[in-house]
Amino acid sequence: MIVRSVILGVGAYLPANIVSNAELSKRVDTTDEWITERTGIKQRHVAAEGQFTSHLAIEAGRAAMEMAGIKSSELDLLIVATTTPDNTFPATAAKVQAVIGRPGIPAFDIQAVCSGFVYSLAVADNFIKTSQVKTALVIGAETLSRFLDWTDRSSCVLFGDGAGAVVLQAAEGQGTSADRGVLSTHLHSDGRYADILYADGGVSSTQTTGLLRMKGKEVFRHAVVNLADTAREAVEANGVTFADVDWLVPHQANSRILDSTAEKLGLSADKVIVTVDKHANTSAASIPLALHQGVTDGRIKRGQLLLMETMGGGFTWGSALVRF
Ligand code: COA
Repeated sequence: MIVRSVILGVGAYLPANIVSNAELSKRVDTTDEWITERTGIKQRHVAAEGQFTSHLAIEAGRAAMEMAGIKSSELDLLIVATTTPDNTFPATAAKVQAVIGRPGIPAFDIQAVCSGFVYSLAVADNFIKTSQVKTALVIGAETLSRFLDWTDRSSCVLFGDGAGAVVLQAAEGQGTSADRGVLSTHLHSDGRYADILYADGGVSSTQTTGLLRMKGKEVFRHAVVNLADTAREAVEANGVTFADVDWLVPHQANSRILDSTAEKLGLSADKVIVTVDKHANTSAASIPLALHQGVTDGRIKRGQLLLMETMGGGFTWGSALVRF
């Protein structure tokens, strides 16, 4: 018998305000056609004034706890993956904890940009596997709209705001790929590429938060290679094949990246959960938002095998194989 981290509940929250490509084209020199053709994005949600990352995270976390049927008194660990925290400190997780968490449990943020959710899932899974905690709330939440250069049309059209969450709980498994729960996680980083996707500011360097900067073509080139590699290592580590994978639940950066990764892996497009058209790239929130979409529309069913993969600034990248 071994301990597995089973996803008991999934939650999501998207700000009410939706900005279409057409609306964006009134603000920057772009068109719906260009954005759709190059990225697959049709719209994005944008947080209202006074609505912070923690507010989005709280809503998503609550929804995940409700689906899981657990109360905050049962939580042992709270992690928020975010690059857009409310404050430099305390951690956004602490602010979430004050509203829906349990006082006294560890609560902290993880900053791995678009890979933040997979990184956080891995950390929570390891806490659970080593029996340090039984139940964990893992949230990916972002207000990227606050962090964009709205005069840079090559980046500002790509991102959106939102939050997604999962509740993980320890359960006994046999140690095989038939177990329910997180089967394995795989994390990577290569800081040599830090200047390809980054913020041009920070507490220590400029005493400002900076704005998102990106060399889009280079990110694209690395993304398709890294995503396919980490997806392969996840299936190989568990002795399964891509034919056994029911759903690819990828980070939602760009539909062309999703298509070429799926093609490289031999996965048909109807096995990929796609939300980038409606949410744009919500960084650490995108995988749990996609997971939530697949679960609530009935495509993702209990017992199915899910492959999550992601790539973000750093570069960071990684994957998780999960039996839902
Ligand atoms: N609207 C209209 N034209 C735009 C535009 C926009 N929003 N953004 C850029 N352009 C123009 C450029 O100025 C350029 O014009 P030029 O040829 O006259 O110089 C032209 O479109 C092509 O730009 P280019 O950067 O070569 O386009 P691309 O095919 O590489 O697509 C991205 C750009 C950003 C969509 C693409 O590189 C990408 O998706 N990269 C990955 C980004 C990503 O996913 N980042 C997050 C990872 S977590």
